[in-house]
Amino acid sequence: MDSLPTAADLITRAERLVVLTGAGMSAESGVPTFRDALTGLWARYDAEALATPEAFERDPALVWGWYEWRRELVERVHPNAGHRAVARRDCTLITQNVDDLHERAGSKDVIHLHGSLFAPRCSACHQPAADVPGGTVEQEAADGAAIGVANRAAGGVADGAADRRAGEAAGGAVGEGGPRTPPACVYCASPVRPGVVWFGEQLPVAAFERAVEVAARADVLITVGTSGQVYPAAEIPQVTAKRGGAVIQVNPQPTPLDPFCAINLRGTAAEVLPEIIR
Ligand code: OAD
Repeated sequence: MDSLPTAADLITRAERLVVLTGAGMSAESGVPTFRDALTGLWARYDAEALATPEAFERDPALVWGWYEWRRELVERVHPNAGHRAVARRDCTLITQNVDDLHERAGSKDVIHLHGSLFAPRCSACHQPAADVPGGTVEQEAADGAAIGVANRAAGGVADGAADRRAGEAAGGAVGEGGPRTPPACVYCASPVRPGVVWFGEQLPVAAFERAVEVAARADVLITVGTSGQVYPAAEIPQVTAKRGGAVIQVNPQPTPLDPFCAINLRGTAAEVLPEIIR
């Protein structure tokens, strides 16, 4: 990749660096991406069809069980060389991922646009459910204030075969899981739900506003491992490009964000990021 040195140079000289990450960032840690076909027990479900308020209403045990399976998988895997490279550099990190691998790699300034696997809350009264396993991360959305709605945009399906193999290798130790009844809220007895943003739900206001603000001021934004199909997150690199900042994309596949990028690096997060963030 001839453009690696140019990208490295731009990043070294950047005064306000922002990194936007998606599911591909964690693929080499063994976490399947959203567009990967699910395996085992979950093979007959589409990840997107499980990530909706309607799915939880229809079958709370199925959806809660799926998120618990993902939380347990994430707890057993480790940050990869890409997460570690980003953590070494002073930057603002915006992630669509609901795992905690950036924090575990040492990144300090992390904006979670789509919530967290570790912040369950009541589906009715929105109180954080800190006594649920893994449930301690601060949750902004208790007051329901939110902005932007997570939306699928039209587009193709990324080939996730390589990630799937990585996921099977690293995540194989986790059982297949299955439906589990969600715990009851200690305040109102309604079912507890995962603290993530589902399709059709609004993004946390403060997180999204800050993401747009830092993207607008960035002189360089690196977008890594996102298919650029889910809005409003996919707008963020476009904000930087329209304000005259340089967008560098790291993704083995082309994406709808390609035209907004000054440099497109076709490689994986764990291979490319240590090369360009020095
Ligand atoms: P996707 O699963 O849509 O896309 C993953 C992207 O990562 C694809 O473009 C792959 O080509 C790329 N990729 C795969 N392996 C990679 C690797 N090792 N290194 C770098 N890139 C790699 O994931 P997101 O774009 O994050 O939202 O999806 C966005 C949102 O859609 C998610 O946050 C979630 C989902 O449905 C909600 O749940 C609201």
